[in-house]
Amino acid sequence: MSEPPTKPDAAAPPPPSAPATAKPRDLDAEAAALAAMEAELLGEPAPAPAPSPTPAPPEVPAPTEAPIPSIPRAAAPAHVSASQPRMAPLATAKPIPVVQFDKVTKTYPSGFTAIKDVSFTIEDYPGRGEFVSILGPSGCGKSTVIRMIAGLLPQFPQSSGTVLVDGKIVKGPGPDRGMVFQDYTSFDNRTVIDNVAFGLECRPAGLAKVRERRIVEAVRKNNAITLRTSSPHLFREGESVMIDGVKDKHLNGEAFVVRSIMSPTEFTVEQRGPDSQPSSGGIARGMSYGGGLSASARRELAAYWIKKVGLDVDRDAHKFPSELSGGMRQRVAIARTLILEPRIILMDEPFGALDPPTRARMQDNLVELWREQSPTIFFITHSIEEAVFLGDHILVFSNSPGTVLQNLRVPPPDRPSLEMQRDPKFHEVVLELRATIDKLESSSRAGD
Ligand SMILES: Nc1ncnc2c1ncn2[C@@H]1O[C@H](COP(=O)(O)OP(=O)(O)OP(=O)(O)O)[C@@H](O)[C@H]1O
Ligand SMILES: [Mg+2]
Repeated sequence: MSEPPTKPDAAAPPPPSAPATAKPRDLDAEAAALAAMEAELLGEPAPAPAPSPTPAPPEVPAPTEAPIPSIPRAAAPAHVSASQPRMAPLATAKPIPVVQFDKVTKTYPSGFTAIKDVSFTIEDYPGRGEFVSILGPSGCGKSTVIRMIAGLLPQFPQSSGTVLVDGKIVKGPGPDRGMVFQDYTSFDNRTVIDNVAFGLECRPAGLAKVRERRIVEAVRKNNAITLRTSSPHLFREGESVMIDGVKDKHLNGEAFVVRSIMSPTEFTVEQRGPDSQPSSGGIARGMSYGGGLSASARRELAAYWIKKVGLDVDRDAHKFPSELSGGMRQRVAIARTLILEPRIILMDEPFGALDPPTRARMQDNLVELWREQSPTIFFITHSIEEAVFLGDHILVFSNSPGTVLQNLRVPPPDRPSLEMQRDPKFHEVVLELRATIDKLESSSRAGD
């Protein structure tokens, strides 16, 4: 977890407050008991109990099943079934979802209830994470929900209900979850590049996992085969990498030993066969090391991510956060999280401070990253357009105390953001969703 000033990767011990499994507290009863005790001590009659701060939840309309008009799309990504309905209630839970909320309520010591009986399940589909957009009015508890997943105080722990990540009760922050905060967070005394590289410094040397990287170019030349990957490969010299699916068939199904690392996205292996023209496609599968990288490898990787979020390495890498605009600082915060490739990325209005062209570019980058690395992403936004463009799953929250009003599926993006948002059919979908949300919100208010 990467909330300064604590180390992003340091697995923080569970907070001293009640664990997630604690019995739900009845704050009304506690307050009434306390008032009665004080009154007894003062020799005064006990005051009448205060009205409940958590009124019964309003009647929430059933999820809308009416189909939203479909947008003509290019070929769906491989992991999306062509027959997938445009918008439909979610299927029932499968074993060990990535995240599961079951009747989760958060009531602060003041008696204020931020979210009430929130339940949802985010499945773990083989080879891909879900992109979950979270929509809802200000103050409805969106940040509360993702900070609970992150295990961050004071939203964590919940007052009642269960929060599971990978089937386990959340006990605090962990390196499997990376968060981009609503208010950009960086270390003021570190330069941009040192901020971005920071999480890698904290990684244990042995941390490695099997990763597949898409090959964008493979060339046999000068006694070596040079392979370029679409995102940092993090392979190491001397390790074995399996290559498959490249157009140059001679490479396929073979294990190669990494000979040298040219850049975060380039490496060479020994040449087999004659020289060749550049080929593309396929994947390289090997162990990627998130930790134990040399200082220069960390800085090279940080430079890659600085460029990826649209900052200029030469111009910006050695600036301090105070020398950056709000949007630039937010991009540093995003790079700090993405460089660590967490399995679950929690993003709290990450693009709110960006100008429209940068925002569209960042949306496209995020989609690319999602396709490439398959994390599960929780993405809070106030923009229905952004939620529909990015998400393949949308959670709509009610007014405070937040509850899940709608749990919807939409097809994931298949075109660049600007192109998609010029499509009139896309606007139809957005308008329809806006009308649905307005209806749900007004009926929820009517039930207050
Ligand atoms: N530490 C706290 N103590 C008491 N109340 C809190 C605390 N933190 C948040 N809240 C309250 O919980 C409610 C939900 O807050 P949260 O930050 O989750 O809302 P949000 O949906 O993210 O809103 P926004 O869209 O404005 O960011 C708000 O009414 C907020 O004032
Ligand atoms: Mg918020």
